[in-house]
Amino acid sequence: MKISTLLVQTGVGWDQKTGAVSVPIYQSATFRHPALGASTGYDYSRTKNPTRQVLEEAIARLEGGDQGFAFATGMAALSTVLMLFQPGDHLVVSEDLYGGTYRVLQEVFRGYGLTCTYVDTTDVKCVEESLTAATKALLVETPTNPLLKVADLAALVSLARQRGLLTIVDNTFMTPYLQRPLELGADIVVHSATKYLAGHNDLVAGLVVVKRKELGERVGFLQNSVGAVLGPQDSWLLIRGLKTLGVRMDRHQDNAAAIARWLDSHPRVTRVYYPGLPTHPGCQLVARQASGFGGMVSFDVTTPELARQVLERVRLISFAESLGGVETLITYPARQTHCDMPLEVRERLGISDFLLRLSVGIEDVEDLIADLDQALHAL
Ligand SMILES: Cc1ncc(COP(=O)(O)O)c(C=O)c1O
Repeated sequence: MKISTLLVQTGVGWDQKTGAVSVPIYQSATFRHPALGASTGYDYSRTKNPTRQVLEEAIARLEGGDQGFAFATGMAALSTVLMLFQPGDHLVVSEDLYGGTYRVLQEVFRGYGLTCTYVDTTDVKCVEESLTAATKALLVETPTNPLLKVADLAALVSLARQRGLLTIVDNTFMTPYLQRPLELGADIVVHSATKYLAGHNDLVAGLVVVKRKELGERVGFLQNSVGAVLGPQDSWLLIRGLKTLGVRMDRHQDNAAAIARWLDSHPRVTRVYYPGLPTHPGCQLVARQASGFGGMVSFDVTTPELARQVLERVRLISFAESLGGVETLITYPARQTHCDMPLEVRERLGISDFLLRLSVGIEDVEDLIADLDQALHAL
């Protein structure tokens, strides 16, 4: 079955008793035991909840994995995965990544003895050179946040396998509709499901999908032990969001491509970062390892003052910190998503005061371009 069909059909037919097309919300903390030592399969909702289970099975199927897990937020999902590691372990991590991931690694997990080296994961040689005897995993975002650099997933997986390392991919920007890292050999996929998967800027959630039974058992043990699970209501909302992911992503991409082309010829824009532009260094690679370029577009304007002006003058587009929803949002990475990154790191990477990031929504693209045009206009 094609992925658009799988998405729409999520949960349909699950409730055999009533035939409900929409999965019921099992708003129950606990479940009656039929007898001593017997279970309906559900005992306590931290461990397993039927509504969450539908979502977890759906995301596992969509990503081509063996087991899926739903968490209260993307950070809860990622943090639970990071608990797979021990003090003394080392990770090699994409240097240009979500600021909150950098923060949790540096400010939380470092305190428990997990160290990281941040490298340009678009350069496999550089990744290889940063491996140590203690390295246990690669943690990769592709395309990266906010500069949309593209890493070669198959090449990274091949390196990781040679060295006995896990490959963990944050697939938030692409979603399984466009990119399935597990099918390219990765071991774990993490999502901020708050973004495209939920799609409506109305809930926060995280998802993890793993390959292999043993890894699934360990993540399941951690999910139940730590308990940062997604509640049944939000699981239901996320299932509802998933159903329209295909049509939403198609429109996000069409709009993003049109806006990227328009920005590229704008006199007050000095650089556009969108993997779908033929001039983007990762364009061919995305075409090979994914089925689309996504809906995120970053761009540099001529001055930091102009960046501020755009944020203040957009009317239709909201100046807000998130991405992946139907509504177009604009963010200022240096001051928002990436403010916890030290200035020298940000400067080296190019996350400057000139940089703006658009999460292109599904509105009429002409209206979006008109809004950007008036916001970029000289005062
Ligand atoms: C790429 C990426 N990963 C993870 C996260 C964290 O997810 P959440 O905000 O749902 O905790 C974000 C949030 O912006 C993100 O952009």
